[in-house]
Amino acid sequence: MSEQFAEDQKVHGVPSIEHDGDILLSARGVTVGFGPKIILQDLDLDVRKGEILGFVGGSGTGKSVLMRAILGLTPKRTGTIKVFGYDLAKASEQERKTVERRWGVLFQQGALFSSLTVKQNIQVPMREHLNLSPRLMDELAGLKLELVGLPQDAADKFPSELSGGMVKRASLARALALDPDLVFLDEPTSGLDPIGAAAFDKLIANLSETLGLTVYMVTHDLDSLHSICDRIAVLGEKRVLVIGTIDEMMKNEHPWVMSYFRGERALRRF
Ligand SMILES: Nc1ncnc2c1ncn2[C@@H]1O[C@H](COP(=O)(O)OP(=O)(O)OP(=O)(O)O)[C@@H](O)[C@H]1O
Ligand SMILES: [Mg+2]
Repeated sequence: MSEQFAEDQKVHGVPSIEHDGDILLSARGVTVGFGPKIILQDLDLDVRKGEILGFVGGSGTGKSVLMRAILGLTPKRTGTIKVFGYDLAKASEQERKTVERRWGVLFQQGALFSSLTVKQNIQVPMREHLNLSPRLMDELAGLKLELVGLPQDAADKFPSELSGGMVKRASLARALALDPDLVFLDEPTSGLDPIGAAAFDKLIANLSETLGLTVYMVTHDLDSLHSICDRIAVLGEKRVLVIGTIDEMMKNEHPWVMSYFRGERALRRF
């Protein structure tokens, strides 16, 4: 038994990633803060291979901060985060590249570079990680556009020339540029009309099923949570308050969980 495994068993009663091939991402005891303000404290999380995990929580609870901490963009004070078995805090440059090559990200803010065309945006990760000819990169960008349901003539448009829904799709195309195993989506359907959001959900569910993609999705969209998420994690009180299926959320007695999933707004769905 490894030291880490023993430690995880002792502290959290859960096996560490080396012992569970079905866990793609694991966070243990993660604390993140800015100055005196602690945002996340002693947080634990496991993301299973192939699942669509929806992340909810009140505004400002740290959903985006957690995502950025997992991506290594926001420093954590304590804890361990492993993705694909790698602890990025200890990884070599080469290992970090390997991990980055296997994930795609759609950020909540600034989804696309405004000075680049859609095609150039999709090619940003390709340029960073692959050594391909311009022709091949154009071909690949075209395939990604098709994958997310955008017309080929969107390739040479700038983000400002697209509708909100098209920007989301183009951002997803960029997140999928390297054929990732795992995608992080921060509020991918916010700002879309319900039909556009439903179409986007369907697309994500489809990609997850056909490509075996694991999806980590922050969302406020109750419809998404109901229709496509395998499990839901609720962020609150600086940690993952509860994690489970939508049915489990509907039965949960925590006041915030109750009001979110069974409150007035939730009930209006039916
Ligand atoms: N770089 C930073 N420096 C200082 N404070 C920050 C920084 N980034 C985030 N915060 C703070 O951390 C808290 C959590 O922010 P975060 O963006 O993660 O919220 P969120 O759960 O994603 O909210 P929303 O649902 O509105 O997107 C907020 O109080 C925010 O002000
Ligand atoms: Mg956020």
